[in-house]
Amino acid sequence: MLKKPLRDSFGRDITYLRLSVTDRCDLRCTYCMAEEMKFLPKRDVLDLEELEQLAGAFIDRGVRRIRISGGEPLVRRDIMTLMNGLGSRIERGELDEVTLTTNGTQLSRFARDLVSAGVKRINVSLDTLDDKTFETLTRRRALSQVLKGLDAAQNAGLHVKINMVALKGVNENEIAPMITWAHGRSMDLTLIEVMPLGEIEEDRVDQYLPLTAVRDRLEKTWTLTPLEMRTGGPARYVRVEETNGILGLITPLTNNFCAGCNRVRVTCTGQIYMCLGHSDCVDLRAAMRGKNPEEALGKALDRAMIRKPERHAFEITKRGAAPSVSRHMSMTGG
Ligand code: GTP
Ligand code: 5AD
Ligand code: SF4
Repeated sequence: MLKKPLRDSFGRDITYLRLSVTDRCDLRCTYCMAEEMKFLPKRDVLDLEELEQLAGAFIDRGVRRIRISGGEPLVRRDIMTLMNGLGSRIERGELDEVTLTTNGTQLSRFARDLVSAGVKRINVSLDTLDDKTFETLTRRRALSQVLKGLDAAQNAGLHVKINMVALKGVNENEIAPMITWAHGRSMDLTLIEVMPLGEIEEDRVDQYLPLTAVRDRLEKTWTLTPLEMRTGGPARYVRVEETNGILGLITPLTNNFCAGCNRVRVTCTGQIYMCLGHSDCVDLRAAMRGKNPEEALGKALDRAMIRKPERHAFEITKRGAAPSVSRHMSMTGG
């Protein structure tokens, strides 16, 4: 039976959970992580049963869509146990969708299993098709592995959306070619403005490429027709008439989309972050592991709803400025 639905103090219904299953990753993207990262000790991380229990608590409160994220979710041991458990919730009509955001390195191994678990579409992070740029950007040589993973995903029948973070001077000349490439093989592509999360080696001012400028540039040669289509996340979509494919734009900096926010994120240690752009969080693990877990979890979720902020305050203006949020993206998977 549905308990009191999750609604924040601005009247927004929370129906989308982004659940991070690990903070670890087999890549080290320069805009996401520092070269030397300290990962969480394993004892702090929720086990798979706890993650499923937590997901269940959200489903009971009206969440209809769950996105599994990381770090890289497919490096979490036995991750398919969780995916299968959530998939059975879809079969029972308790969830509409389970999806995944992945860097693609492990897809050759997992694509078929994901389909068996009930996953229909995945978002794959890929910022370049150039071997050298990939290595500079991710600090690893894994482009061919990711490309094989994409083949495996599409062969298994998964619908793929490529996530491409637009980075000044790094991949900006690849934006149009990557759109053509993705659309040519029936994948959607979404461009993302870089967000100032966590201390990294580079200055965000040097990375930041506003999508308003990118769009103007693309419109010099292409016709972009706005679409009503939504996928539950913050992207707004256009159709590129020349390629007949779908292009998403995620614009936290140039066009704030927080008014329509429907989501919260939970880390692999059970902290719920009510907004990607704030540091405030509520400890669900303590509630789950204490006395009367069901009641305590319910109360913790109520507290989280009251504290969900109206909007993020990301800013990339001053050189040398501290990040808007000190937590790295890999803690919440975006
Ligand atoms: P769809 O279900 O396909 O719409 O996916 P999604 O865009 O919700 O998820 P994905 O994991 O692919 O995230 C794409 C980008 O959107 C990442 O850079 C996320 O950090 C960012 N994103 C997702 N939710 C939010 C949000 O609430 N606020 C901000 N600022 N960015 C978000
Ligand atoms: N700003 C914007 N997007 C980011 N991602 C990781 N770090 C950042 C950042 N600082 C992207 C990844 C992935 C998604 C979960 O978030 O490339 O596609
Ligand atoms: Fe790993 Fe994704 Fe962060 Fe890259 S952006 S280091 S793939 S978690």
